[in-house]
Amino acid sequence: MLQVNVIALTELTRLVLPQMVARKRGKVMLLASLAAFQPGPGMAVYYATKSFVLSFGRAIGHELRGTGVTITTLCPGATTSEFAQVANMQGSALFKGPVPVMTAAEVARQGYAALKAGRPQIITGLINRITAFSTFHADGNLVDDCRSSKSPRKRAVMSSWCGSPGLGRMASGR
Ligand SMILES: NC(=O)c1ccc[n+]([C@@H]2O[C@H](COP(=O)([O-])OP(=O)(O)OC[C@H]3O[C@@H](n4cnc5c(N)ncnc54)[C@H](OP(=O)(O)O)[C@@H]3O)[C@@H](O)[C@H]2O)c1
Repeated sequence: MLQVNVIALTELTRLVLPQMVARKRGKVMLLASLAAFQPGPGMAVYYATKSFVLSFGRAIGHELRGTGVTITTLCPGATTSEFAQVANMQGSALFKGPVPVMTAAEVARQGYAALKAGRPQIITGLINRITAFSTFHADGNLVDDCRSSKSPRKRAVMSSWCGSPGLGRMASGR
């Protein structure tokens, strides 16, 4: 996972940027996730790699200012694809929770519009934007609060709100 999400992404970006800068034109899209904004117990490495992608994209995008080249980091929430099946997450709060799963076509449409506009970052969907903002600004006790709440309803709501399958498992006691 580190090879695909971090090493390959970094090396490919490094490979294409010099030519783009030389011709003063180019657009790169990096695929992060809503996971970039929060820790993910149960999927710690995946969530951490997505934080890397977001941080890397924002920093490189800043370095490229004035060159004519832009970097857009796409941060989707739960999206219909083979992802849930491959990761064995179809039953998780992320894909079965109250937040609607977006279609891949809609994520692609929003991502492409942001890429064309040269926006540094796009979180697809209003609920996902609110979630990213909330979890990013929550303090480090969020995970413990979620795990230790006495109210099953609060645990369930918090776990789906956090969007983490790990938190979902904690909430259901598995
Ligand atoms: N779906 C979601 O809910 C969601 C949400 C946020 C972010 N994302 C991100 O979106 C991106 C695409 O995911 P997806 O939803 O489209 O999932 P997907 O349908 O499972 O597609 C994943 C793709 O990655 C390829 N892949 C997996 N391991 C690889 C490896 N070691 N080397 C080369 N290619 C490899 C797969 O190729 P094969 O088919 O040949 O195995 C497949 O084409 C991922 O970065 C994921 O983290 C997805």
